[in-house]
Amino acid sequence: MADKKIIAVVGATGAQGSGLVRAILSDPSGGFVARALTRDVNSDKAKELSKLGAEVVAADVYDEESLKLAFKGAYGVYCVTFFWAHFSPEKEMADGIFKKGREYAGKTVGIAGEHLTGARMAASFTAALGQEVRYKEVSPEVYRSFGFPGAEDLGNMFQFKRDFEQVFCGARNLEVARALNPALQTFDKWLARNKSRIPLE
Ligand SMILES: NC(=O)c1ccc[n+]([C@@H]2O[C@H](COP(=O)([O-])OP(=O)(O)OC[C@H]3O[C@@H](n4cnc5c(N)ncnc54)[C@H](OP(=O)(O)O)[C@@H]3O)[C@@H](O)[C@H]2O)c1
Repeated sequence: MADKKIIAVVGATGAQGSGLVRAILSDPSGGFVARALTRDVNSDKAKELSKLGAEVVAADVYDEESLKLAFKGAYGVYCVTFFWAHFSPEKEMADGIFKKGREYAGKTVGIAGEHLTGARMAASFTAALGQEVRYKEVSPEVYRSFGFPGAEDLGNMFQFKRDFEQVFCGARNLEVARALNPALQTFDKWLARNKSRIPLE
């Protein structure tokens, strides 16, 4: 245990972070251990991660001192930010969570699954769910006009992915990701396992 490299995971109880924590824990010979950061070490999700073998530590990305402690001795950090909690670009920049990750710990890590088009995903949904799922292209510009909280942010994300597809996909090398984590699922495999959780009308 002591010779293992620590990966500190921000948002460890959430959808993104918990996937990484579980992947690290399910690979005991991988040379890494997971340190799960959470604001509430007593929540059910935090306790579950602790039971699975993660080191669970209290941290809030808006509390710099807590981050310093949580990142201490870590070999790498996995960071997510919480833009949707406040919708403020200024706060997002001020957080500097990625900068702090480098400053207090060391390197950063990331994973990638598969590069699929919307049409290809719709075809997979259709096959898995047994009812037609159609892909309808909505331009980022139109998306921004929908007006619901976060529509602008999502429109920006889709624009970035459309206009800088090669940069975005190029930085997420699937072969490297699969070599690092052979258990990484394809979309079809994930769908086969999880289709019963998708509510159908
Ligand atoms: N899920 C996706 O498909 C997806 C796709 C693209 C982008 N993202 C982005 O990725 C980020 C995380 O998404 P998610 O889906 O994993 O979110 P999530 O399931 O809501 O989980 C976020 C986790 O972050 C923790 N958290 C929230 N505020 C925090 C704070 N101030 N300090 C420390 N931890 C805090 C919470 O843990 P505790 O309550 O235990 O502290 C929560 O479990 C978001 O910015 C989201 O917009 C998500």
